Amino acid sequence: MRITGIILAAGKGTRMKSELPKGLHRVCGIPMAALVGRAMMDAGLERPIVVVGHGGDLLIEALGPAYDYAWQHEQHGTGHAAMMATDALRASGANLVVIAPGDTPLLSAAVFEALVGHHIDSGAKATVATAVLADATGYGRIVRDDHGPTRIVEHKDATPTEREIKEVNAAIYVFDVPTLLEILPTLSNENEQHEYYLTDAIAAIRARGGKVEGLAFDDPDIMRGVNDRWQLAEAAKVLRQRVLKKHALNGVTIVDPDTTYIEPDVVIGTDSTLEPGTILEGNTTIGSRCHIGPNTKILDSTIGDGCVVLMSHLNGATMLSSSRCGPYANLRPGAVLGEQTKIGNFVEVKNAQLGARVAVSHLSYLGDGEVGDDTNIGAGTIFCNYDGFLKHRTVVGEGVFVGSNSTLVAPINIGDGSMIAAGSVVTKDVPADALAMGRARQEVKDGWVVEWRRRQQAEKDRRKS
Ligand code: UD1
Ligand code: CA
Repeated sequence: MRITGIILAAGKGTRMKSELPKGLHRVCGIPMAALVGRAMMDAGLERPIVVVGHGGDLLIEALGPAYDYAWQHEQHGTGHAAMMATDALRASGANLVVIAPGDTPLLSAAVFEALVGHHIDSGAKATVATAVLADATGYGRIVRDDHGPTRIVEHKDATPTEREIKEVNAAIYVFDVPTLLEILPTLSNENEQHEYYLTDAIAAIRARGGKVEGLAFDDPDIMRGVNDRWQLAEAAKVLRQRVLKKHALNGVTIVDPDTTYIEPDVVIGTDSTLEPGTILEGNTTIGSRCHIGPNTKILDSTIGDGCVVLMSHLNGATMLSSSRCGPYANLRPGAVLGEQTKIGNFVEVKNAQLGARVAVSHLSYLGDGEVGDDTNIGAGTIFCNYDGFLKHRTVVGEGVFVGSNSTLVAPINIGDGSMIAAGSVVTKDVPADALAMGRARQEVKDGWVVEWRRRQQAEKDRRKS
């Protein structure tokens, strides 16, 4: 059995008040249409087909090559959108197709699995997901007889009696592909909205003697469609809660779920603790026994076991096991901290690889370079990596002691075991085990201040009188 999916995402989403197509708006960092697509693929569906229209180029660029695409240049309804996907559907060679809207970010693989399972077990030609809502206003209603749904009537087309029906169409369907391909060209747009309704496929299949099933789901979240930015925020809250709960049940301590934000692709090891204000985004991996936060944002970074990240910002960084950073560290792309390395307050590291047991405890900038094992970088050290035109590398060896407030002007090599005197401006390479002093020699004038104070006081007295 080969199953594919169609995601309907051509609509404009006027109430979003946006330049972007609705399916591109992100929930927990992932475009809504891609959340639907991921749920489909997690359920074992092959390469879903995304029907795009408004902002289609942007949507295709964001969703990428995991999907096939069909264009619907003018939006004449959900049935018309499905018609636009028929070539791709035929080409897919699938026997079954799942169709879902691209603006329902809370759909999960479990829903698709249940729906497909029911469809196969019952031998239906079409199976529609339904929900019973206290207030069904606006939704398509499921009209049933003893054999199942006979048709779906849109709210605008429904009679007062039909509007009493509380079972609504969740707009998630499974169809036998040959049946759907046969029915789609027969749909008409003779209705209140002059649109081709995909929902009319149900009555058409029944009219041909085909079996239709309606599977009711208890969780109304499955059909929670996002139409405006407030619904977007509400959907994000629900998804966030799901992600947090998954990690908590996997052995991660989340001190305050209300202020912790974890995007769906983040991986976290057991016995790690997330303090309030922790934000973990993108392809971030956190090891076991880590302590993260409070007030920390980590994006696309890899953190080993037993690390501590305290009130810091990390983007594209790597921390090997038992390393620490913060408070107020800024680790930018290409920053690598070796095992047991410590980065302290107001230290920025960019495209620089630090070995094991390195200490950079305060107020430094390390850009475009490398630092060997067991090296100590004193407070206020700066790698001068940029000359206004080009970036240059600073290479500091192992076991080096860089005194406070040193300025290392790249390109430069500081040899193993060497020492840089505090306050040096280092412009020439330093050999191994050498001492480099790059500062003015200190002069001491005994008693100089006594004479100076006398002169100053005399001048002050003269001006007063
Ligand atoms: C649809 C169903 C309704 C169901 C409701 C659940 C139909 C006719 N009605 O109504 O029974 O209760 O969903 O939310 O299907 N789209 C396109 N091209 C189009 C029109 C729509 O791609 O020409 C896409 C939209 O971008 C959206 C999805 O299809 O993602 C649903 O369309 P929408 O207009 O919101 O359908 P509803 O009127 O809500
Ligand atoms: Ca809708």
